Amino acid sequence: MKKIDVVLGLQWGDEGKGKVVDVLTPAYKVVARFQGGPNAGHSLQFDGESFVLHTVPSGIFREGSMNIIGNGVVVDPVILMDEIRQIEATGVDTTHKLKISRRAQLILPTHRMLDAASEAAKGKSKIGSTLKGIGPAYMDKTGRNGLRFGDVLCDDFLDRYNALKNKHLGMLSLYPGFEFDLSEYEAKWMQAVEDLKRFPFIDSEFEVNKYIDEGTPILAEGAQGSLLDIDFGSYPFVTSSNTLASGACTGLGVAPGKIGKVFGIFKAYCTRVGSGPFPTELFDETGEFLRREGHEFGATTGRPRRCGWLDLVALKYAVMMNGVTELIMMKSDILNSLDTIKVAVAYKRDGQTLDSYPYDGGVDVEPVYEDIKGWKSDICGIRDYEKLPKEFKDYVAYIERQTGCPVTIISVGPDRDAIIRR
Ligand code: IMO
Ligand code: MG
Repeated sequence: MKKIDVVLGLQWGDEGKGKVVDVLTPAYKVVARFQGGPNAGHSLQFDGESFVLHTVPSGIFREGSMNIIGNGVVVDPVILMDEIRQIEATGVDTTHKLKISRRAQLILPTHRMLDAASEAAKGKSKIGSTLKGIGPAYMDKTGRNGLRFGDVLCDDFLDRYNALKNKHLGMLSLYPGFEFDLSEYEAKWMQAVEDLKRFPFIDSEFEVNKYIDEGTPILAEGAQGSLLDIDFGSYPFVTSSNTLASGACTGLGVAPGKIGKVFGIFKAYCTRVGSGPFPTELFDETGEFLRREGHEFGATTGRPRRCGWLDLVALKYAVMMNGVTELIMMKSDILNSLDTIKVAVAYKRDGQTLDSYPYDGGVDVEPVYEDIKGWKSDICGIRDYEKLPKEFKDYVAYIERQTGCPVTIISVGPDRDAIIRR
């Protein structure tokens, strides 16, 4: 049967999804984003240029590709239009390469305000949201109040916009002392909505299924990571959508049996931005080393990322929940100079050993580590798996044994070409 493949992050986001989609796209004609919104920052690097995509699928730079923003996505028109202008400044004409689902939800300027007000009110227990309005927009979606792209073309769009905006203003008045000025962003927002009308607003579920049925290679691109999933992540320190492979079913309108390969991306170590449990987080020199060598600063917010060792308890959970068929390992080159690499294989809490990911995401657990011998050499120039140092191959084999899943692609540097396929 003909199917759609899925690519997604297995950790807390920032695994390198942009680069991987860009590398995989020559094999695909269509790339479709299925959830999240401008909280994502998918970085691509080619021809000495680097690029960060927030809403547009990462296939956009490939010749002849079609890119779909699916119904599961929440879209801020201002951010999307800015992104389109930046892409077009590189000489890519996006007009015939981008389509937007009529069912995709709009992030209103007041959703951003509500995100900021809610986070500020949480004080120390804040989520560390990217403040792009993601949570409030998904709340309006499930609360059945949201506005969708298709609504933009309705005669009463402005009335509906104002009704929702007024409701939000009422909610914002419950946060005393929270000040905001909407006028500038709102004007830009209205203009961006107008500008976006040059793209087709489509019933993407029909289009996606047509591509599947006719055998056109199609790839579903996830955002964030499995441990930020609203149901299975480290709740409440999560995002507001289903980031797992199952999210591709609801976020694009694809039946479960039509999911083909599931590419799961992970970094050879772990990072997290924002708050929430992170069992293998390092507060020492090694953590600082990973941040510096790995350039671990947020692509969307610029925030320094928290860094730590690879967590196999969490990775195995993510592999199970997604039905990962192929693992893709990123940024292993960052570990080049280390004598010893640690990986967490279990957690300890109150004298008990936990070998599966707990419902609270591992609050106050102590990781149980195994030591892996480092390869202590520069692997960045290597393109042939067989030429990799023995210790490196042992590390890969170890991860495959632990997860029960093959590692089929290894990234050894930021550029498009720094890839080893097996
Ligand atoms: P990509 O697609 C890393 C994190 C935020 C915060 C939590 C909730 O680039 O991997 P939200 O704005 O969704 O309300 O924030 O989720 N977060 C991400 N972390 N990469 C992302 O996307 C993220 N999107 C959201 O830092 O902790
Ligand atoms: Mg990111």
